[in-house]
Amino acid sequence: MSDQPLVLGIETSCDETGVGIVRGETLLVDAVASSVDDHARFGGVVPEVASRAHLEEMVPTIERACREAGVALKDLDAISVTSGPGLAGSLMVGVASAKALALSLGIPLYGVNHLASHVAVDIVEHGPLPEPTLALLVSGGHSSLLLVPDVTNDIRSLGSTIDDAAGEAFDKVARVLGLPFPGGPHIDREARGGQVTIDFPRGLTTGRDMERHRFDFSFSGLKTSVSRWVQAREAAGEPVPVADVAASFQEAVVDVLTRKAVLACKEHGAQHLQIGGGVAANSRLREMAQSRCDAAGIELRVPRPGLCTDNGAMVAALGTQMVLKGREASRLDLPADSSMPVTQVQS
Ligand code: KG4
Ligand code: ZN
Repeated sequence: MSDQPLVLGIETSCDETGVGIVRGETLLVDAVASSVDDHARFGGVVPEVASRAHLEEMVPTIERACREAGVALKDLDAISVTSGPGLAGSLMVGVASAKALALSLGIPLYGVNHLASHVAVDIVEHGPLPEPTLALLVSGGHSSLLLVPDVTNDIRSLGSTIDDAAGEAFDKVARVLGLPFPGGPHIDREARGGQVTIDFPRGLTTGRDMERHRFDFSFSGLKTSVSRWVQAREAAGEPVPVADVAASFQEAVVDVLTRKAVLACKEHGAQHLQIGGGVAANSRLREMAQSRCDAAGIELRVPRPGLCTDNGAMVAALGTQMVLKGREASRLDLPADSSMPVTQVQS
């Protein structure tokens, strides 16, 4: 037997029902049931559809995780769950399930922040987090630059998007180009066959915008610009060079994300940059981040794609850290908080 804590983590903040089990810093299983296909025809996640899918998938996913990890529920030391931010109805399913498990097993419950979990997951991939770590979290729901002195109780927000999230911009531009939802992977693939031929705007990177929003992002102007460019081609009866538009759009997003992330590392004395969230799967983002980090002497840490998208392993990874650092457990009446601030690690 190991004396490392064994923690089961539950994630239901969006459209993935995730159940992960971590012992110490070792990931035993990461079981995910996604309802993404149910949302595809709507072109975005439908909250009510997502909550119902969580209800249906919760028990089978917990059972599958335990079976695959060879773990019995009675062996668990604690339960952790995403208590926010996210879709209210979806969060409630996870929080209620976690409370039921913790109460019936007589073990502590940790309600934790989804974004902090995205940072903590890298511990099961690359070992202990350097302190401080600078984290760039980019997904369909969030785009944040965080300074993380201690993932269990000290996370500082340096900036975030003032309009669309980075993944949301990928999804919307994909729609304009006639590509399926979610659009990120399709733009990534199209872009590989294209050239960066169009100079799309880089929001909040110059002049007063940069002064006032040094580490914030804005992608809605970029999205509108792509949309106008495509409409103008269509109005002129000319074919739309989809691969070139995809490559040029992607270059604009990735340029801004990596430029601001590296600047934040330099200004805040962080020698490590971690990238997480679904957009971290983007091949050009990984490539540009690597070359800019190399040039600046910063070590880049990116978990494998399956751990970058929403999953239960990240919640279990943070839960384990809470136990190891001796943090107090949450109360059993903890709420699901759809707008939980990123600076609040635990509820
Ligand atoms: O983290 P995630 O699974 O869910 C949340 O939104 O929280 O992220 C999904 C987002 C979608 O917007 C999707 O288009 C984007 O991540 N994405 C990508 C890539 N793979 C997924 N964006 C750009 N390039 C990719 N390869
Ligand atoms: Zn997420």
